[in-house]
Amino acid sequence: MIRVFSGIQPSGELHIGNYLGAVKHWVGLQDEYECFFCIVDYHAITQDYDVDALESHTFDMAVSLLAAGLDPGKCVLFVQSHVLEHTELAWVFTTVTPLGELERMTQFKEKAQRQESVLAGLLNYPVLQAADVLLYKANRVPVGEDQVQHVELIREIARKWNTRYGQDFFPEPHAQVGRARRILGLDGQSKMSKSLGNTIGILEELDGIWELLRPAVTDPARVTRKDPGTPEMCNLYALHQQFSPAYTVEEVANKCRTAGWGCLDCKRVLADNMAVALAPIRERAAELRARPERVQEVLESGAERARSVARETMREVRERMGLLSAPQATPSET
Ligand code: TYM
Repeated sequence: MIRVFSGIQPSGELHIGNYLGAVKHWVGLQDEYECFFCIVDYHAITQDYDVDALESHTFDMAVSLLAAGLDPGKCVLFVQSHVLEHTELAWVFTTVTPLGELERMTQFKEKAQRQESVLAGLLNYPVLQAADVLLYKANRVPVGEDQVQHVELIREIARKWNTRYGQDFFPEPHAQVGRARRILGLDGQSKMSKSLGNTIGILEELDGIWELLRPAVTDPARVTRKDPGTPEMCNLYALHQQFSPAYTVEEVANKCRTAGWGCLDCKRVLADNMAVALAPIRERAAELRARPERVQEVLESGAERARSVARETMREVRERMGLLSAPQATPSET
């Protein structure tokens, strides 16, 4: 049986980077495999965050994921902190993970550089990620390119634990990376990411999309309206490939190469197509927001289903590691 696991931080609304890079892919996988998708709130607290907003951001992420097409009838959607075994297994894994491996993680190095004092939680971030995946003995992890190195480390953690405590207990999962492996932000240079402020939210309406696209960076060779451009050098062309029909993509490429269109013309078409493509997601999100109790129900039943798998894995992990089993809970005498 193939099992899929992936996670996303509760950054509020999805943006088109994590939507195209991961979530759109998840929506397809839930038809074929047993899938667990997790909103990873314990990961989100490894960096400075807004305590007052975390709860609403977690809820909003659930709304976005359901609106984007995750179907609780086909997959398990839940919040990481609702299943305590994630942090328990993460602790276990810290005892088999070499410090040097954690220190060489690119994301750790990048994030640590931006901070005055580096906390242990940030270093151990990939260990918690290993616990997320391996608790469900998942074989496949659909992610964007930036997570591939973490999945490699998960494989190593599984190997190390297996060598010490039980051959083949944990499978070695594979990263699955789709075509939209690294969507660039509106600056045309860095990965689209909420922390860099270069995103377009999937719930934006046409006017909002246009406001964001208008100043977006294009092919730097197009200094004036008459300069021909190279579509492959332009982030907007990459976005057209995601949101526009094939004939428009072709037209965009021609009009760019011949300077038939200016960049603003190209952006206008993109904004229209993006708004059309995202409209059904926006509509579903509005419906879900009107029924917050439905979203809560989905998360509760998701956590329940996740817990039943997680408990069984942890029971076996404790046993194989020689931990004394806990006394059975007895009913209160009063
Ligand atoms: P996060 O929340 O940063 O991103 C969620 C998913 O979206 C992908 N992604 C992108 N893909 C292409 N272009 C972009 N600009 C872009 N931005 C984000 C990410 O690669 C990711 O797949 N550490 C993970 C969350 C996590 C996880 C897990 C993932 C926790 N536990 C276990 C897989 C398995 C993260 O921060 O994702």
